[in-house]
Amino acid sequence: KPYIVIMAGGIGSRFWPYSRNNKPKQFLDILGTGRTLLQMTYDRFIKIADKDLFYVVTNKRYFELVKEQLPDIPEHQILTEPLRRNTATCVAYACYKIAQKDPDAKIIVTPSDHLIVQEDKFWEKIHLALGASEIDLRLITIGIRPNRPETGYGYIQYISDPGNPVKKVKTFTEKPNIKLATAFLESGDFVWNSGIFVWKVKSIIHAFEKYMPEVAEVFEDGKQFYDRAEEEAYIQKAYSLVKNVSIDYGIMEKAEEVFVVMGDFGWSDLGSWLSLHENKEKDSKNNVVDANAILYDTHDCFIKVSPEKLVVIEGLENYLVNESENVLLICKLDNEKKFRAFVNDAKQKG
Ligand code: GDD
Ligand code: MG
Repeated sequence: KPYIVIMAGGIGSRFWPYSRNNKPKQFLDILGTGRTLLQMTYDRFIKIADKDLFYVVTNKRYFELVKEQLPDIPEHQILTEPLRRNTATCVAYACYKIAQKDPDAKIIVTPSDHLIVQEDKFWEKIHLALGASEIDLRLITIGIRPNRPETGYGYIQYISDPGNPVKKVKTFTEKPNIKLATAFLESGDFVWNSGIFVWKVKSIIHAFEKYMPEVAEVFEDGKQFYDRAEEEAYIQKAYSLVKNVSIDYGIMEKAEEVFVVMGDFGWSDLGSWLSLHENKEKDSKNNVVDANAILYDTHDCFIKVSPEKLVVIEGLENYLVNESENVLLICKLDNEKKFRAFVNDAKQKG
């Protein structure tokens, strides 16, 4: 059975103000299913893995949240990070730790902010990827057929190989600019990187040694941790020594032995209000309304306001109206790039 590494340390700034530093989106029931995104990720993978094979990597400030939301996962499998050093470091921590326990392990690395619609198809692709990862050095990613020139994703160009469901990757471009993304989309040879990776622990460690030797060096000395305090001290030091780089830039863009399995299972990165809007039930005017609201001549909006307020809106199109705790945000629904500024500027105001 594979190990499952859940990356759950992002801050979800494009979901502000609903997603906060003290409770980012993976810890929220964003879809209204009764389960948070992290729990949905666990619920999905527990079908193919044992709970002893799960590792959740998150910032130390979220340790209690993970414990609370995933009570079945033993505490020592919640790996806590002292600093935000992005996904390459997160993957290194988990994979080097798993390697000590089981040098022949196979690992599925998954984000904690995804929606997967058709699980049967998803499993079919995961099994294909697990099979493909058996060959030494191979790093497998799940690709998604793109439908818009999204600049927040990685783009994978693969070598055409009709009939073979596992394709060799030619190029991997993380977060291209809009011009490039449009060209990629139009060419038809590219798929999105879903951010779900499958590899043998030996293959990813080889990749760290080759492409991020500074990270390999830090995690390599093969220390066995006998208690949490010892591990924390070691990790504190390790994290202070490495750079903030994502696995996509640090390894996937550079590695040679990358293969892609096409995922056609209905996928969405619930990365922003707009992507959530696409995935939620809408009224007849294409509004998502999670509020006690009266709307006139309003369409393509996302309205989420605490139920004790009555919201009356007239003449709004393509807007987000969100009241969460002490913040009321009203902005265009599709300007994801501005959220970082919103969060920073709001911090200044207190
Ligand atoms: N533990 C930990 N530490 N987790 C992190 C950290 C970190 O420092 N940074 C991000 N994560 C988690 C997030 O919570 C999320 O579940 C996952 O790692 C991916 O991070 P994102 O920040 O959401 O990445 P992205 O969406 O911009 O890009 C990635 O996913 C896209 C598809 O959703 C890339 O892999 C792209 O290539 C890909 O297309
Ligand atoms: Mg994401």
